[in-house]
Amino acid sequence: MKEKVPPYFEGVYEYISMPRRLLFGPDSVKNVGKEVKRFGNRALIVTDEGVQRAGLVSKVTDALLTEGVEFYVFNGVKMEPDLENARVVAKTSRERDYDVVIGVGGGSCLDMAKVATVMATNEGDVEEYFGDELVKRPGLPLILIPTTSGSGSEATRGSVISVGDIKKVIFSRWMIAEVAIVDPMMTLTMPPKLTAITGIDALSHAVESTLSKRSNIVSSALARESIKLVSEGLEAAYRNGKDVNARYRMAIAATLAGASFANSSVILGHGISYALGTLFHVPHGLGCGIALPYVMEYNMQVRADALRDVAASFGLNVWGLDDLEAAKMAVRATANLIKNVELPISLKEMGIPREAVPELANVLVSKYQRLLNNNPCEVTYEDANRIFMRMWEGRLESLGG
Ligand SMILES: [Fe+2]
Repeated sequence: MKEKVPPYFEGVYEYISMPRRLLFGPDSVKNVGKEVKRFGNRALIVTDEGVQRAGLVSKVTDALLTEGVEFYVFNGVKMEPDLENARVVAKTSRERDYDVVIGVGGGSCLDMAKVATVMATNEGDVEEYFGDELVKRPGLPLILIPTTSGSGSEATRGSVISVGDIKKVIFSRWMIAEVAIVDPMMTLTMPPKLTAITGIDALSHAVESTLSKRSNIVSSALARESIKLVSEGLEAAYRNGKDVNARYRMAIAATLAGASFANSSVILGHGISYALGTLFHVPHGLGCGIALPYVMEYNMQVRADALRDVAASFGLNVWGLDDLEAAKMAVRATANLIKNVELPISLKEMGIPREAVPELANVLVSKYQRLLNNNPCEVTYEDANRIFMRMWEGRLESLGG
């Protein structure tokens, strides 16, 4: 008789995937040495030069030294890493006998730490593992320490890698963190612009996850709290990076949003952001931010109920309003927050030519169908054209456009 496959392998695990342990709060990073000791004594740290220059890697290594943990620091992660970069990371992970991988940094560093974790124990090339659950063997225990409050990578099983101009993803349960350490003190040096971009990325994860066809009770619960924390924390963190309370809210909001979309999905907005990245190298969070209010509006007729929830999470009083009115309030609150942290709300403002709209629509529907598949409304090429044109002009119906 064929062995019965446990529910874990039947997709059910998608709804319960979380880091096995979550340490959070100011100075929680001081526990990293103790956490490593649970698994061994030799750690590979995966990070980039910027994170190292900001003095954040030394916070980790100080804690390792206290516990007598040996470590090697790989600081070669590139922004939005490509296949070549991922291959260097894979090679590094195989060069010595490590017990643990520690990722320190923004989404790119954490995603590359995930690559190190699984490539240390699996043969072959990184490229062979693009797709869903193609990694065969468990990786090394993984500890993820975010230094931006955005990607949510510390709470997901995905690793995003650029192949040419296209973003591809390795999804593997073996890339879920054994421990995520979410310490707001690691985010205090983030400059205002990066605070804004990464914060809006986190918000877009929570809102898109709420709208996704794959949303469920757990993902929606996580998204609600995340949206509330972003609405309370982002502007304050943007105005004063040393505001620990605001940083704390944003740090945990990003992790909750990551856990939310890890158990649901992101949708059209991330597809739009990737298309903007493919053609114009628009940074990920910036693209998500520009897209977000338009994506909410596009899906409003079908998921006004979900957007009502978003408005309520923003702390708005939706009592007595019908769903559509409440949904429009959610779009206005989102657009206002984006403006208040001084990010653009139209493609025109960013200097993207109007003539690029058809090609953007083409890239979106031809390369990023996997994100459109989870969108509550169908998105045809014509629809994509209309959405990009609205984005170019900055026309939001909820704002009277
Ligand atoms: Fe994102």
